[in-house]
This record gives sequence, structure tokens and C-alpha cells, in this order.
Amino acid sequence: MIELAPSILSANFARLAEDVQAVAEGGATLLHVDVMDGHFVPNITIGPPVVASLRKATALPLDVHLMIENPDQYISAFVDAGADWISVHQEACVHLHRTLEHIHSQGVNAGVVINPATPAQLLEDVLDMVDHVLVMSVNPGFGGQKFIANSLVKVRKLAMMRAARNASFRIEIDGGIGEETIAEAVLAGVEVLVSGSAVFSHGNPRENSQRLLQLARDAKLQKV
Ligand code: DX5
Ligand code: ZN
Repeated sequence: MIELAPSILSANFARLAEDVQAVAEGGATLLHVDVMDGHFVPNITIGPPVVASLRKATALPLDVHLMIENPDQYISAFVDAGADWISVHQEACVHLHRTLEHIHSQGVNAGVVINPATPAQLLEDVLDMVDHVLVMSVNPGFGGQKFIANSLVKVRKLAMMRAARNASFRIEIDGGIGEETIAEAVLAGVEVLVSGSAVFSHGNPRENSQRLLQLARDAKLQKV
């Protein structure tokens, strides 16, 4: 199933509940929450209190993308706040296997994220224990950046690695996904599409979500 996960990074934080409701009405089935600490990435965003408020405002599963150093220290706080999916960066985890086990032990979905410069092959030994792999198609830190096309090579590689080992993780992409890039991402094998500025930065978030999902579904039909 193709899913759209709007990234609230580009939403109106003073009217977050309304923006979230709009994307749910537009067909989004996940909400992507970008957590940045000013160390792992050069930007600071939100923490567990905002996740807890979102949890009260929507029934959508919360897909929490941790762009922070030392993620282990904060995982239980995000789970307590209501996260359903937690993704940690391969580049931020010295003991990635342990961190992924830690996430699972809290009863939520565990995912690993790779930056544009990180090869998919580095994930070889954790692919059997993740629920999703998130491929960054921009360097993390900001919304509205240009899509890095080479990330699709990585998506295809991950799809092949998954088939070879009969694994079932989902492939997610994040960064620069909009009307021009969504179809090629689906054709490469992406199933979960994160999109921030293309959903929230212009026009109507409900209609933008609907349009993006339609483009993704059309591409999926083309693929089969
Ligand atoms: C970037 C974040 C993304 C970002 C995507 O570091 O992880 O989730 O919000 O924004 P767009 O879709 O505008 O590239
Ligand atoms: Zn993200």
C-alpha cells in the first residue's frame, strides 16, 4: 500500500491541529514528525511535548524521525508521548542493533534512516530487524530542499536486498518529494512518501495531499 506521510515541519505550528486534520481528510495515513537537536543537524525543532499534543489531536499514527545525537536517551520519552514509529539515523548510532532492539522493546515500529552519503549496504546486518528503512533524499535539517536523484538508486538497491532475503521492511523516502518527484520514487519502489513543503507551503494541504496521493497511485499502477 502506498502511504503519504506529511511532514509537519512545513505546517503552521500555530494551527497545527487544523493542518493535521486537513491532511487526514486528504488521505494521509501517517504523520511525519521531524525532531532536530541542533547537533546532529544544524536546526532545532520539537520534542516530546509537541508529540503528546499531536497524539491528542489526531488518530493518525505518528512517524517520528529522530535527527538527534544519542537517540537512546530519548526513545522512551517519545514512546510515552505517543509515537507509533521511531526512526533513528545509522550515522547517529554507535550501537545500532541495540538501539533498534530498544525501540522494539517499547512496543513501537523501529526504522533506520540513511543520509545521502551513506550506502544501503551498511544496513545489511539490521535489515531483518527493522519495520522500515527511511532513505533521505536531501541532507537532513531543513524542509524545501532539492531532491537528490541518486537516492532512487539506493531505493532500488534496498528493494533488491529485501527480495533477496525475503524481508518485509517498508521503504520510505524523505526530502524533496512533490509533484515532480513522487512518481519516480514510487516507480523505484518507495511505499511511504514523506512530503513537507509540497503539502503545506502553498495552497490547501487537503487538496495537495489528495493530488500527491493520486500521482503516487497512478505511478503504482504503471509499475505493476
Ligand atoms: C528534512 C526532514 C524532512 C522535511 C521534508 O530534514 O527530515 O522530513 O520536512 O521536507 P520537504 O518535503 O519540503 O523536502
Ligand atoms: Zn523527516
